[in-house]
Amino acid sequence: DVIREIEGLGLKERRLADKLGLQQVRIVPGDADHDPLVIKALGHSAADYVRGILKSGDILAVTGGTTVATVAEQMPRTQLGVEVLPARGGIGENMEFQANTIASKLATKLGGTYRMLHAPDLLGDEALQTFISEPHVQDTLQRIRSARMVVHGIGQAIPMAKRRKLPPAKIEQLAGQGAIAEAFGYYFDRSGNIVHAMNTVGLRVSDLKHIEQIVAVAGGKSKAEAISAVAHGCPLHVLVTDEAVADAILESR
Ligand code: F6P
Repeated sequence: DVIREIEGLGLKERRLADKLGLQQVRIVPGDADHDPLVIKALGHSAADYVRGILKSGDILAVTGGTTVATVAEQMPRTQLGVEVLPARGGIGENMEFQANTIASKLATKLGGTYRMLHAPDLLGDEALQTFISEPHVQDTLQRIRSARMVVHGIGQAIPMAKRRKLPPAKIEQLAGQGAIAEAFGYYFDRSGNIVHAMNTVGLRVSDLKHIEQIVAVAGGKSKAEAISAVAHGCPLHVLVTDEAVADAILESR
């Protein structure tokens, strides 16, 4: 039975990779919306993948969020000697789910180093330019853009906008623009068009095409449409998700 189940997942992994045009899909059984153990399994599977690919000297960039935090939690201790960096500056997450925090945790687990991007949320244009022009920040940004691998989360647009406490008028505007997905501080509509970008520093969607391994980790049936939108709107190579998402996307047109 166990073998049959694994074979069934393997088939779904290949079908989903085909459908979304990805190099690889990893599926864990269950639905993260209803079972916290599934989030753990997502973290474990992603950690396993990441560890298999990274080599000493690589730069790994990570986003925030509870799912990517679980990747760090599930990462076994090794001595890989990589540099871990936050993909983007602060985008309204609680401390423990911020990219900076996750990068430092992962660096500890992987026997590597990290740097932080202490960009406050929602800087005005002028303040942002001043911040970016700091030589230390310039250097960090350049290192982020030369990452070999990026591991990122995907969220639903409106729940993410609320989690970041965007003003109600902005949230209404996003809904009106058909925003259904969020990744890297960008909001996407169903077809993967960017409808809004947050004013923060770090990796831009346009930088992603230079990155060798982009890995998204996201599960829970409620995220199925968001995941599909980001797979269409952003370069993506590997998706680690759960069976509920896989079934929902495979059943959709
Ligand atoms: O805020 C960082 C981030 O990775 C977002 O880009 C993404 O939408 C969200 O976190 C996913 O969070 P979670 O894994 O907690 O659902």
